[in-house]
Amino acid sequence: MDLNIALLKGDGIGPEIVDSTVAVLEKIGKKFGHRFTFTPYLAGGCAIDATGEPLPQETVDGCKASDSVLLGAVGGPKWDTLPGHLRPERALLGMRSALGLYTNIRPAKLYSALKAECLLREDIVAKGVDLVMIRELTGGIYFGERGRRQGAMGEEAYDTECYSEKEVERIARVAFETAKKRSKKVTSIDKANVLESSRLWREVMHRVAAEYPEIECTDMLVDNAAMQLIKNPSQFDVVVTSNMFGDILSDESSQITGSIGLLPSASLGDSKCGMYEPIHGSAPDIAGQNKSNPIATVLSGAMMLRYSFDLEEEARAIEAAVDNVLNAGWRTADILGTSTAAPLSCTEMTEKILEQI
Ligand code: IPM
Ligand code: MG
Repeated sequence: MDLNIALLKGDGIGPEIVDSTVAVLEKIGKKFGHRFTFTPYLAGGCAIDATGEPLPQETVDGCKASDSVLLGAVGGPKWDTLPGHLRPERALLGMRSALGLYTNIRPAKLYSALKAECLLREDIVAKGVDLVMIRELTGGIYFGERGRRQGAMGEEAYDTECYSEKEVERIARVAFETAKKRSKKVTSIDKANVLESSRLWREVMHRVAAEYPEIECTDMLVDNAAMQLIKNPSQFDVVVTSNMFGDILSDESSQITGSIGLLPSASLGDSKCGMYEPIHGSAPDIAGQNKSNPIATVLSGAMMLRYSFDLEEEARAIEAAVDNVLNAGWRTADILGTSTAAPLSCTEMTEKILEQI
């Protein structure tokens, strides 16, 4: 296959982890006979520096015209004081919205080689963790009306959580379809005891659940879910939730698996063109030092092969290479745990993965 991939390297560790993933995809291309063409575009802080805006139109157009998008990370202290609409994070939200990427798939799995890195008690770890968080990505409070105004107590600020039936229904279907291929269990997370938007969320979930009698669907309140993820994470398989709850709970689930440096994500809409990125951010504290863990981005590349290009065997080849590297004991600094061995750099870890392909 001939495929065009847009690269949004972004800021901080973004460029080094995207470069690792490009190397891995090129090796896969060579092995399986595909030609990947990579075209970089500016997004985030680097785009602000070069053009004055976080998401130039050229980037949106370039990504829309490509077969898929690989993103590193955006943001950093340099741009933290800019007004909201000019912050690097706008690039991410803008891309999700421009490409209609309403589904965010975030698998969190505890590798057996990394059990020692898990912060939970041994008997909980022994039961394993292998869940997929499905986060609604283009609705809710991250996209609702916001602003400042004068209230009874002076200046106030507001953000609005709003969900339409249609938005909930389409993400529900993604969750149930995903569950069909896994252990046929969906946990829908909301705050229906307080929020009207969550009550609608729950109603629609139940309506869609009725179309999938083979799938067991459970509601869980978000505060309880935050607790259950620590107390008994093996109870979860497919988790579906709103934009903000998914943002928070996916970071929490990453800590159960050892490191946020391991977790990939896929953002999808109705077309095959998706955006793939690690769930972690730009890690400004280690930017430019070749210390980052490329695995989350490399695994995002595998998700791209699977979801955008239907290249299942190729995706598995990447996942198996990562498995082998971890099983062989190779570690970057974030997954070193209590070991005193010298950690691999980002480029050394990439080399180890390439050797396994
Ligand atoms: C994520 C990130 C983003 C989000 C930020 C950087 C806008 O935290 O992808 O989880 O909130 O979605
Ligand atoms: Mg987040």
